[in-house]
Amino acid sequence: MWRFSGTIFWLAMLIPGKLSLKLQYNGDQVLHIVPETFQQVQHLQHLCSTLLLDLWKPWLPEDIQAGEDLHIRVPAPLVQEVKDSLDQHMISYKVLISDVQDLVVQSMAGERRSQRQVPGDYVYTEYHPMEEIYQWMTQIQNSNRELVTQHYLGMTVENRPIYYLQISQPSDKTKKIIWMDCGIHAREWISPAFCQWFVKEILQNYKSDPKTSRFLQNWDLYVLPVLNVDGYIYSWENDRLWRKNRSPHMNGTCYGTDLNRNFNSSWGTIGVSYNCSSQTFCGSGPESEPETRAVAQFIERKKSDILCYLTIHSYGQYILTPYGYTTTPPSNNEELMYVAEKAAAALMGKYGTSYEVGSTSLILYSNSGSSRDWAHMIGIPFSYTFELRDKGTHGFVLPPAQIQPTCEETMLAVTTIIDYVDQKYFPDGAVTLTSGSLGLSLSLSIVLTWAVA
Ligand code: ARG
Ligand code: ZN
Repeated sequence: MWRFSGTIFWLAMLIPGKLSLKLQYNGDQVLHIVPETFQQVQHLQHLCSTLLLDLWKPWLPEDIQAGEDLHIRVPAPLVQEVKDSLDQHMISYKVLISDVQDLVVQSMAGERRSQRQVPGDYVYTEYHPMEEIYQWMTQIQNSNRELVTQHYLGMTVENRPIYYLQISQPSDKTKKIIWMDCGIHAREWISPAFCQWFVKEILQNYKSDPKTSRFLQNWDLYVLPVLNVDGYIYSWENDRLWRKNRSPHMNGTCYGTDLNRNFNSSWGTIGVSYNCSSQTFCGSGPESEPETRAVAQFIERKKSDILCYLTIHSYGQYILTPYGYTTTPPSNNEELMYVAEKAAAALMGKYGTSYEVGSTSLILYSNSGSSRDWAHMIGIPFSYTFELRDKGTHGFVLPPAQIQPTCEETMLAVTTIIDYVDQKYFPDGAVTLTSGSLGLSLSLSIVLTWAVA
């Protein structure tokens, strides 16, 4: 109510034992505009800042550019005024979402919400509230004891535990690690849905699929289904479009840091806001947030074994390479691009969905403090951000009907990346060399070279 005076409706929900206020988006629309001239850009910037419209793409009014897509959510009471103003300035627009609340309601619908979901029965084609994801993690561990363990990573601002799942075949070999995290941004629900799908697929297939079982001889998979637990819960219970975590600032007058602006990768330098009420508030310093620190400390500790860092977001359909804070490409840019192109091609093979591949600052927007940049900077060679479906038709409120196709196609992209790193570090399915046998083969080849010479 206090954010966009008079334009937002909170609905009091009486849930036994607690009262929660739920933000409503009745009649809000998301408009798609491609400004053509500089004058149009200026007018749009003016509209967005004076009416406090909610920019979905790009993030900041100053990043609005001629010839580039603009997605804005317009609160219901302002829809007519905004459209009239666009007409007056001869700016053409398309309605992407005609009623945001319709999609919000759809995204929360669960066929069997009240029913206990046992593991074999877990519905992967719906979005799940945090409580069900916690239960799912426990059940997945309990029913796959030979392969899965659940681990505590740290606490959130509101003191909730963050867990990751380790998928690991018992072995005394030293194994390399692939890390994947989901749910950095609260409202990007397709992301946690994908992490769960990914785990399910691996567990379903590893016995029958020789590639997966071979792969698990050399690699451990670490999957963090929801990093921003507080934000995710807030997006279910209070505001479906919440993005950040829930840290209080300025004596509780504003909430939330953008966790993907909070990492120690050129923190606070570009594409961020220092205003705590902004969607892209970068926090009070690098790793100021416990959720960021939990991930960063863990990855820092394991970094010599982690060769691939994948972080899953939505929306836009991109596979993004480092960096976001500079346009200078990383040293292994060519290889990163080659692998990402291959992944995007595999993804497209399933349903024809097209992804754009490239460095964040070049193809999307510049931003500092992302986890992807940070992971690459500390030495993890294969570091990618996925921006899953769609391209704006439903934006952050992707209908549940798209969970399955999105996860299926994304699975192909992720396994393409995994196959590549597997081949690179463990070529041709050869037996893993332990340090002992590596030493032996090295000395053998020295002897041989010496003998030939
Ligand atoms: N997950 C992305 C982020 O958090 C969203 C962005 C790209 N798409 C967009 N519509 N702005 O930065
Ligand atoms: Zn995101």
